[in-house]
Amino acid sequence: MVVSEALPLAVPISETLDITKESSPVEQQQQQQQTLLDVQERPRAPVDPGVEAGNAEEAAGIGAQEAAAVTQDAGTGAQEAKAATQLHGSCQDLEEGCVEWAAEDGCIQNGPSFMFERCRKSCGVCDQPIITDVPENVTLNNGVVMPRVGFGTAGLGGATEEATSWALASGYRLLDSAQAQEWYREDLVGQALLKSGVPREQVFLTSKLHPRHHGRDEAMIQFTKSLSALAVEQVDLFLLHYPACWPELCGEGYTPKGTWHDSWRALEELVDKGLVRAIGVSNFGLDDLAELLAMARIKPALVQRHSDPLAADAEVRAFCRLADVQYQGYSTLGSQWLAHGMDKNPVLTNAVVERVANETGGDAAQVVLRWALQHGQAIVPRSSKRERIAANRGLDFVLTANQMQRIDALDGSLQHN
Ligand SMILES: NC(=O)c1ccc[n+]([C@@H]2O[C@H](COP(=O)([O-])OP(=O)(O)OC[C@H]3O[C@@H](n4cnc5c(N)ncnc54)[C@H](OP(=O)(O)O)[C@@H]3O)[C@@H](O)[C@H]2O)c1
Repeated sequence: MVVSEALPLAVPISETLDITKESSPVEQQQQQQQTLLDVQERPRAPVDPGVEAGNAEEAAGIGAQEAAAVTQDAGTGAQEAKAATQLHGSCQDLEEGCVEWAAEDGCIQNGPSFMFERCRKSCGVCDQPIITDVPENVTLNNGVVMPRVGFGTAGLGGATEEATSWALASGYRLLDSAQAQEWYREDLVGQALLKSGVPREQVFLTSKLHPRHHGRDEAMIQFTKSLSALAVEQVDLFLLHYPACWPELCGEGYTPKGTWHDSWRALEELVDKGLVRAIGVSNFGLDDLAELLAMARIKPALVQRHSDPLAADAEVRAFCRLADVQYQGYSTLGSQWLAHGMDKNPVLTNAVVERVANETGGDAAQVVLRWALQHGQAIVPRSSKRERIAANRGLDFVLTANQMQRIDALDGSLQHN
């Protein structure tokens, strides 16, 4: 059974906020707690019936009405592209010193939350480079080669093993898991891998340290447990799942034995020992990322965060470009919005996304995934359905610059409840 109520806990702190602003740690924690409370009050909704129905309709009716709308509507595409241009045009520096500060690496070294708010142009927030030829693999900053499209395994519960087997059978060679049993099943991912017959060295395995285990010694102990749950001798990528824990996740009054800084030292030791090939973080905001870069002996290779067309995370993506750290988007298909009380997935049912899907002949999910890839992201879509698992890797079409811009223009057009 698919347990998607598990996902909301993975909502990153900042995704409930105006993504152009970083809030104080105290505010973040308060908002995070509120998010969790909101989410926990939601009824179980394993599958969003609205999305399912919408996709069926789309599949059946991809001709007539929509095709007519697209043909008649050279205008809409042009308007959408114009809106995108205006959005990008509004990307201004608001301080006189921006150019100079950016030239001195201020965007990534010196209070980036200030820089990315006041110096958006100089920090490249709106540059959004587009690639049309998307290589199957990405080479991380330490030389490790990683598949660009992986399979996300959060929220699948007991169905994790079956879905992961389907993913491996349809060609996925990256599996994204984590220690947090609130959402993930490392053991079932490990079983699927063992039974698949795919050689271990051909599969890139990611796991993440639970924030309750922050601290050098605790991180080392818990990493060993991950190895045994996954039934492997090495993990390809190990991430700090969150910079800190919070009461609803770790229990009231619980304090981890150390901070994310201590845990990072443990991750560096794991690399030294050859137990992990690459390390990185998830759900870190701009200022924590800057602090991490400043203190790291081994530079983070990857940052995993929520990015979808309506909440595209442009600032952190720009930060990662400048810092030569690979950005991996999660919940690209919009499932975080469902976790925030929406009963219909606003990404997959978005009119612009649907129009672009009609133009390309793909479906909305494929368009959104391809959009992320053409912005240089790595992605880890998840599905419990065999056909969708396969379709989410069938991304060998190209979105035009106009189509990319129209999707880019959706960023920030919808706010969380
Ligand atoms: N680091 C973190 O804190 C964090 C947080 C969240 C997620 N993640 C990682 O990112 C992965 C992906 O994110 P996610 O699981 O939140 O959600 P997602 O991949 O954005 O979306 C999954 C949802 O989309 C539906 N779906 C999948 N393919 C579809 C298609 N072709 N057409 C229509 N609907 C489709 C799925 O339903 P069906 O199952 O019915 O197909 C499911 O409801 C996770 O599994 C996890 O590995 C990490």
